[in-house]
Parts: sequence; structure tokens; C-alpha cells
Amino acid sequence: MAFVGAVGGLRWSLTASSSVWTAPNNTASRATTHASARRSRSVVLMQQQQQQQQNSQSRSNGSVQSQRSANPLENVQDAIDGIRGLLGLQRRSRTQSLLDYDPSSAQSEFDNEEEAPLVLVVGATGRVGRVVVRKLLLRGFKVRVMVRNLFSSTLDLLPSSVEFVKGDVRDSIFELQEALSGVDKVICLVGARSEDEMQEVEVQGLQNLVQAFHDIRVQEFGPEESTKITLFKFSRQGAKYMDRWVVPTDDIGERLASAGLVAKPPRVSLFMNDKGNGVLVGKVFEKYNGVAQAVLKLDQPNLKGFSGVILRVIGDGNTYRIALQCGSTQSAGVSYVASFKTEKSKWATIRLPFSSFIAMSDKQMNLRVRDAEELDRTNIQSIALQYTKSQDNPEKESGDFYLAVDYIKAYRTQEEPDFVLLSTAQLTEKGFTHNAGDLSVPAMADGEQPDPALLAKWRAEEALRNSGLTYCIVRAGDFNEAEGGRRPLLFEQDRDLEDKQVRTVSRADVAEVCVRSLLDPRACNISFDAFEGNFAPTAATATQDLSLLFGRLRPNT
Ligand SMILES: NC(=O)c1ccc[n+]([C@@H]2O[C@H](COP(=O)([O-])OP(=O)(O)OC[C@H]3O[C@@H](n4cnc5c(N)ncnc54)[C@H](OP(=O)(O)O)[C@@H]3O)[C@@H](O)[C@H]2O)c1
Repeated sequence: MAFVGAVGGLRWSLTASSSVWTAPNNTASRATTHASARRSRSVVLMQQQQQQQQNSQSRSNGSVQSQRSANPLENVQDAIDGIRGLLGLQRRSRTQSLLDYDPSSAQSEFDNEEEAPLVLVVGATGRVGRVVVRKLLLRGFKVRVMVRNLFSSTLDLLPSSVEFVKGDVRDSIFELQEALSGVDKVICLVGARSEDEMQEVEVQGLQNLVQAFHDIRVQEFGPEESTKITLFKFSRQGAKYMDRWVVPTDDIGERLASAGLVAKPPRVSLFMNDKGNGVLVGKVFEKYNGVAQAVLKLDQPNLKGFSGVILRVIGDGNTYRIALQCGSTQSAGVSYVASFKTEKSKWATIRLPFSSFIAMSDKQMNLRVRDAEELDRTNIQSIALQYTKSQDNPEKESGDFYLAVDYIKAYRTQEEPDFVLLSTAQLTEKGFTHNAGDLSVPAMADGEQPDPALLAKWRAEEALRNSGLTYCIVRAGDFNEAEGGRRPLLFEQDRDLEDKQVRTVSRADVAEVCVRSLLDPRACNISFDAFEGNFAPTAATATQDLSLLFGRLRPNT
């Protein structure tokens, strides 16, 4: 291991053409015929086929010899491997034998190979990774693994039917994009070798991977295939495009109101604060019919294919509204409105499906327009942030309001996770996040501070949650080496922060959960703890229907 570290220290500067390897025979043809057939795989795979055939032949002959490399250190490693082999030092551990992949026992989930998604496993040489790879193959997925070196000792850890790509999560986005080319889904099981490396490997590395995956999807399919589009992000667009926001003012109303002739119009302002957030602030004076609002004109009104809007906000505990105006119904004085409640001084990500928007009269607050047309998603002209006093008990509200907004996006129907991340069960959704400046931190028991390792795991999770990719974050309890499928599994959110009980789960079961989440819509955008349970009524063994357990969890908003 130390030797590999030394090699890692001298990482090559790789070009795509030297970094991708496939196994021979059927996998080579797989490399060029991708599941969705829409994606072109790296030509490199074909170019190297011949070389790898030789390499693989030597492996199947029982030799540990790998492709001779231009890198002298790899050849030294080969020599060491050879000597270890001669001396009989290559013992097969119990875990290794459990990990064997027998293609004859495979039960593909897919009717034909073309349909099978290509999954990139990062951290495939790890103890969970090796199990994940075999489970994926058994279920008929195509598998590419990103490994840090192509020594035969590394190749021998994994079945020969996977594609190998050489890479490190610390590589440049460009290099990572090569590894991700044509990939449908990613499972990330990377574990830093030491606490010192956590930030670089697990936080920055994960961010690199997520960004590269997101970018390559946009490159391969165009922005419309990305799962979210930004309608407005204040820190990015605010400085330049703040004039796309309009705060309707009513000067005449003001003057008439000061003469006591009409109701006093609300006082509203929208500005950018020094943290790069948009702030809607002011006061509504009237008990009824006083609407304070800021309106954003959309430059891309066609939101066909999107399922709703998502916004990140921090407020004062009041309830706010989002109002959409469509081309066709605008002139009839109809807006489509959905409400959301803020929690005082706490950031929240609010998801409002289009199906929850109700047609309301612009003139008469809270008058539902029952015979209005359905919301036309192809022609949404504007989106307004609104505040109005609660109509149930307007006397009790001062009318003061404050809402800071980070972004407003539109999201697509999310069918399955694109990216599965293995994290740790010491993090929890309970209390969701506190906000420390712009960075969120995990909720901890009273008086406790998250340690750096935990914070790194949290940052990695946050990078994924904010990426726009669909994801599943599996927070595993402490690993044990038990055989998989034996004990019931328990999936939890909102764990009691004071609960110090150490709970474990087998690596094999964790691997099963990661693999099963890939095709399960119910596993989309959830973060949860996975433990072994005893008699918990909600538990299921990993061989049972995990979908039921996923379905009981609350998606991250
Ligand atoms: N241990 C527990 O009880 C526990 C509980 C919950 C969650 N977890 C987490 O679960 C994950 C997997 O655990 P494990 O036991 O399978 O870990 P592991 O055996 O240590 O494997 C770690 C994997 O990460 C790879 N890796 C490390 N640095 C990398 C880099 N810079 N670029 C690309 N790959 C890199 C390693 O590759 P090399 O082979 O090249 O080093 C290896 O494949 C870890 O994140 C761990 O923190 C652990």
C-alpha cells in the first residue's frame, strides 16, 4: 500500500488515450454500443482493445503480470507482484472469496444488453466497492471502474468484464469528464486514506466528480436534459440582471391613501445583500388585499418537461407565495399561486410542484378562480415572490416581512438517482442545517461541534445535493463483515442527536442498498441512515423489497 502511495505521489499526467482500458471480448463491443445508443463512447477503448486482450490473457492464465508500462514504477510493481506470486504470498482472504463474480449466476434486470445503463464506480477497489461491482454485474449493469493505477494487483481485484479507466478524483475536471464519457450513473465509494486527505479527496474530489458529471451530461444532451435550470440566482446574475426584477409601485395609491381615500399600498423593496442573496423586505399595512411583491420576467418562458419550482430561502417565519403568470391567462387577471412557510433564520430549500399551484384572481386576493385554464407550462411569463398577511388572523400580524432568496430554479420529474454517494451515519437530517455564513453545517447534539472528518462528509453531501443531479445518499452505520441479507435493515432520517448507540451494518448490505437505489424512483433525492435492525417493523433484509423502505423516506426538498 505504501508503494502504491508513492506511485500516487508521482501521478502521471494522463491523456484520455492512455487512461481507459477495457477487458476483451464482449466488453470491448459493449464499449462502443452504449445502452441509450445516443452516446458515443471514447474511441480510445477500441484502440486499446488489442493491448488489453494480451493483458487479460495473461491474467486468465493465472499470471499476475500486467501490461508493460512506460512507467518504470509500474514495472517494479509488476516484478514485486510476480515475486509475491512465486512465494505464494497472494492469499485469498475470506472476503475475497465472498466477492467472486460468477457470470453464470447473473440475473440481468434488463431485457437486452443495449438497455443496461453504464455505471461508473469510483472507489471500486475498496472493500465496499469490490462488492458493489460484482453486484452490478450480477444485475446486468455495464460497469466502468475508475482506479488510481493499472497495476495487475489492482486489476486482479476486479472482474475482467469491467472497463478500467485510470483516474483520481483530484484530477482535473477535463480528465474526469473523459472517465465519465457515456456514463449513465455514478456510484461514489471513495474513502480518503487519512484525515489530512479528507478535504482534498472527499470534498474537493467529490465536487470535481459531480461537476464533471453534470458538465458532461449537459455537453452530451444539452441543457434541457439537466435536471434543474436556474431561473435566477442572485449571486450569479444579481449584479448584472437585477433589472429583470420589478417591484410594482403605486404612487397614486400612496397619495390617495395619505388623503385617507384608499387602502394604503404595501411598502416593498428588493435588493442584493452583501452575501449575494436577494432580499425582499417591507411592510403590508392592510389586513386584507395587501400584496407585497417582486416580479421576475422569465427569459425562457417554456418550462415544458419541468415539474415545478425550487427555491432556497431564509425568512422570518411568515408564509410567502410564489405566483406564476402565463401568457394566456395574464390578461384575464389570473395568476397561479402556491404558498410556503419559512422558519425563522433558517435556510430551507422549498420545492413547489406545478400541480400544487392554484388559479387565483389578481384583483381579489384569495379568490380562487375555479373555471380557469390549467397552468400552461409552455408559456410562463413571470414569477413573483409575494407576501400577504395571513387571511385567517390578519390582526395578529404586524405586516413586516423579510425574505432572503439564494436562487429560484425549475426542476424536472426525477425518475431515478443519477449519483449514489456512500456517506456516514453520524450525519443526520434532524434539525436539517444550521447556517454558518454561506456554508451549512450538520446538525449536532447540544454543545457538540462536528469534527473535521464529519464536516468533510457533510460538505461532500452538500455538493451533491446542490449539484442539480438526482442523487441518493446512503449514510451507513459502522461496517461489519457479516454476510449480506441476514439481518433486517433499517433506514432512518431524523435520528435523535443525543443517541450515542453504535449501530452497524454489513458492507455487503450497504453495497446492495447502493445498487438497488440506482433504478428506484423512490430512492431519488434522499439522504438516510442505513443500519441493521432487529425487530423493527419497518425493517427489511437487503434481499427483500428495499423499495418499500426507500418509499417511507422524505426526499430532500
Ligand atoms: N468504515 C466504516 O465503518 C464506514 C461507515 C460508513 C461509511 N464509510 C465510508 O464508506 C466509504 C467506503 O468504505 P470502504 O471501507 O470501502 O473504503 P476503502 O476500502 O478504504 O476504499 C476506499 C476507496 O477509495 C479509493 N480512493 C481513495 N482516494 C482516492 C482518490 N483520490 N481518487 C479515487 N479513488 C480514491 C480507494 O482507491 P485505492 O484502492 O486506489 O486506494 C478505494 O477504492 C468511505 O467513504 C468510508 O468513509 C465507512
